[in-house]
Amino acid sequence: MTTRSHRIAPSILSADFARLGDEVRAVIAAGADWIHFDVMDNHYVPNLTFGPMICSALKPHAQRADGTAVPIDVHLMVQPVDALAQAFAEAGADYISFHPDASTHVHRSVQAIKAAGCKAGVVFNPAASLDVLDWVIDDIDLVLIMSVNPGFGGQGFIESALRKIEQARKRIDAGGRDIRLEVDGGIKTDNIARVAAAGADTFVAGSAIFGKPDYRAVIAAMREQLAG
Ligand code: DX5
Ligand code: ZN
Repeated sequence: MTTRSHRIAPSILSADFARLGDEVRAVIAAGADWIHFDVMDNHYVPNLTFGPMICSALKPHAQRADGTAVPIDVHLMVQPVDALAQAFAEAGADYISFHPDASTHVHRSVQAIKAAGCKAGVVFNPAASLDVLDWVIDDIDLVLIMSVNPGFGGQGFIESALRKIEQARKRIDAGGRDIRLEVDGGIKTDNIARVAAAGADTFVAGSAIFGKPDYRAVIAAMREQLAG
């Protein structure tokens, strides 16, 4: 076991869109820690998914059998950022992350997300450097490292993300604040342990979970890998 607590965040991008509420409940019953919500605008990325109205419709489904809320982890792949971030805060998002290159004023976007009552995250594409992190690290709650190019589920893991996770881990530990280090793209049971060893503590997985009939078995296998 590592000392850090792990979170598994299934991405509903790979769920059955005709039954999203059922899918959210099923994956929570199967052991999901967070629900990852991929927002694409056909501008920042060449795909289009769902907006704040879907988020508020799903909010009541994002809870465990005992009524505890399961965090909704909104990953904004949109440009501009601020108006939609505000709308997602009102729609029940718990975490809101955005790509710094999609915001003209990154620091202001972080502050706006926090002022709206959410935890704020910044996202780094495969070819993006971490430099901006140094200037927001005192304010953010989450760093998201992309291990695929954003826009689609089911892509292959980009190995250089491991180096970036290591670098982000160093910067987070040096800062000494409680910041989650999340990785997104191509996470499977056969690479999750390497990703954790590089320093990630929160794992988005879309196709690996929703692409299999037994969500519980996949999540359990991932936890077993993390524990080993
Ligand atoms: C890609 C999305 C990811 C994606 C991950 O733009 O941000 O969250 O759903 O999907 P898999 O796990 O299938 O790579
Ligand atoms: Zn995502």
